Amino acid sequence: MSILEVEHICKTFEDTEVLKDISFSLEKGQVVSIIGSSGSGKTTLLRCLNFLERPDKGVIRVNGEVLFDAADVFTGQEAEIRKKRLHFGLVFQSFNLFPQYTALGNVMLAKELQAKERPDYKEKKKEIHEEIQAQAEALLDQMGLSDRKGNYPHQLSGGQCQRVAIARALALQPDILCFDEPTSALDPELTGEVLRVIKSLADQKTTMIIVTHEMAFARDVADQVIFMDDGYILEQGDPMQVFENPREERTRQFLMRFTQREKGGVSKRR
Ligand SMILES: Nc1ncnc2c1ncn2[C@@H]1O[C@H](COP(=O)(O)OP(=O)(O)O)[C@@H](O)[C@H]1O
Ligand SMILES: [Mg+2]
Repeated sequence: MSILEVEHICKTFEDTEVLKDISFSLEKGQVVSIIGSSGSGKTTLLRCLNFLERPDKGVIRVNGEVLFDAADVFTGQEAEIRKKRLHFGLVFQSFNLFPQYTALGNVMLAKELQAKERPDYKEKKKEIHEEIQAQAEALLDQMGLSDRKGNYPHQLSGGQCQRVAIARALALQPDILCFDEPTSALDPELTGEVLRVIKSLADQKTTMIIVTHEMAFARDVADQVIFMDDGYILEQGDPMQVFENPREERTRQFLMRFTQREKGGVSKRR
């Protein structure tokens, strides 16, 4: 059974159809790279998966369970949506760390809030806190940030901030980790450091959806590549097929533009 099944998702903003009948599935432990021009709907798709936008049509299933069905009358309460969101971890381009918390504090925060809802929280507070701290520390170690746990975001480089953001997303043990252009705000050196961390997560069989403009990375890390164009999935396949032998002329043109840019020594989008 697929860990994620997305079926016929459509989303319209005012008069613009931004997502047009999007369907794909993802197996546990697999990585899908989503590529495509600016404005093709990649971010909106991730936002729909994370309940930040409500699709007009379609169904989203995780582990066979229907998380969202546009045909249902929406009765979701905030608490229910929060619970559904836990299936997905989201890492944005802009880190979105809380400036008033240290790296460790940022990673622990969501877990701490979650723990407060446990019936045994009051009596086991100290124990629970220690457990959450140990888990957060282990994640920061895994991100190569052992000596940065007590630093605040303004004391960290962009690459370090993004690794904290990845640790924070992992802390809630999501089924699927989603990245939206995780390195677009970073210079090439820091980009490499973040991409290495994501690659090591892929090697550990973390299920991931990665929206990126780093074409060499998209190809290297993925089991499956999706090319989005104007709200459609225009092409979908294994990385060799999409990158070496694209079926669609528009995929080929898109890849040419990026390959030329990467050859020119500039891996950034703009
Ligand atoms: N909240 C919104 N309201 C209106 N239009 C939006 C909104 N969010 C995105 N769009 C439009 O949807 C299209 C796809 O945007 P987006 O999903 O951000 O694309 P991408 O991430 O591929 O660059 C764009 O034309 C964008 O202007
Ligand atoms: Mg985007």
